[in-house]
Amino acid sequence: MPLIALLPGDGIGPEVVAEARRVLEALDLDLTFESAPVGGAAYEALGHPLPPSTLDLAQRADAVLFGAVGDARYDSLERAFRPEQAILGLRKALGLFANLRPAKLFAGLEDASALKPEVAGAIDLVIIRELNGDVYFGEKGQRKTADGRREGYDIMSYDEDQVRRIAHVGFQTARGRTGKLCSVDKANVLETSQLWRDVVIEVSAEYSDVQLTHMYVDNAAMQLVRNPGQFDTIVTGNLFGDILSDQASMCAGSIGMLPSASLNGTGKGMYEPIHGSAPDIAGQGKANPCATILSAAMLLRHSLNAAAAADRVEAAVTAALVAGSRTPDLGGALSTSAMGDAVVAKL
Ligand code: NAD
Ligand code: IPM
Ligand code: MN
Repeated sequence: MPLIALLPGDGIGPEVVAEARRVLEALDLDLTFESAPVGGAAYEALGHPLPPSTLDLAQRADAVLFGAVGDARYDSLERAFRPEQAILGLRKALGLFANLRPAKLFAGLEDASALKPEVAGAIDLVIIRELNGDVYFGEKGQRKTADGRREGYDIMSYDEDQVRRIAHVGFQTARGRTGKLCSVDKANVLETSQLWRDVVIEVSAEYSDVQLTHMYVDNAAMQLVRNPGQFDTIVTGNLFGDILSDQASMCAGSIGMLPSASLNGTGKGMYEPIHGSAPDIAGQGKANPCATILSAAMLLRHSLNAAAAADRVEAAVTAALVAGSRTPDLGGALSTSAMGDAVVAKL
């Protein structure tokens, strides 16, 4: 019986994970669930954002469903104890280097998009974000300059193996979709990006059926809102992928709609909405659970080999939205749990 680790975390994390769990349970799939604290909640309970017991559960489980972590009250802690370190630690410990972030406009959400409906309607893309390298994991710190001023630094780097393995994920994903891959970098300025681009071009020799293009990240940010329909698969580094996916979410209607899968090539994965703990709406039943429910669908598809069940969940979300079920971020008035009810009812 597959074991799902539930790591609800902070803020709206527990609220949205509860709805995704209900959806998974309604499928009657014989899953077992085990929960553990993570982030600020784990710091409060056990003194560390990623306690050994939580990491152990994540390692034992077949898949991890993660909510969100973080709250301003932990922002002054030493970095190693901040909630966000839990998610970075899990990504590193589980070797989750490939983050898939699909962004598409669900039927009926044209009016929720920040874009004009005719522009928004075309969005159906996936961002393949590298998740184990870049400026996130380089040497970082604060120091004094020779003349005594404070200086902060974060080293950005990728080695060629890191780029190669994410490039393969990008090409293979594009191959399974419309065959168009856009690699996003900043090669006009950054050496990290020049290596990225060189390696992506090398890997492209193995994928003559995929049409590869390159775009600078600043242009990509602009093109995403000008004409998101031009993109199919985007492959990019950790930082650019983080930023572009939040932007893509509003093109598709709400950050509360975008799921993600973090994979390491073994079938094991961690699944989470792209959004954070949303302290401004936490505890009020206002959070949109769809991103987490759709993350559960990705879990079924990528870790449990249960594509039919994943299709059912995605169809139920679509049907609930088409029927007009909306949380406040989508212009509606349903609570988090009422939105969960609406999805379960459509299963
Ligand atoms: P955020 O994504 O938490 O919230 C940004 C805005 O989007 C807020 O106005 C919030 O109310 C709204 N929002 C987010 N999710 C929503 C949902 N499901 N339904 C409706 N509205 C939603 O980003 P932030 O405010 O920059 O960060 C808050 C905290 O979350 C910080 O501590 C940050 O470090 C952390 N964070 C964690 C993750 C994660 O755990 N994966 C991701 C991003 C940010
Ligand atoms: C995300 C978040 C994380 C990231 C933070 C919380 C470390 O923004 O999952 O998108 O930057 O990767
Ligand atoms: Mn982010």
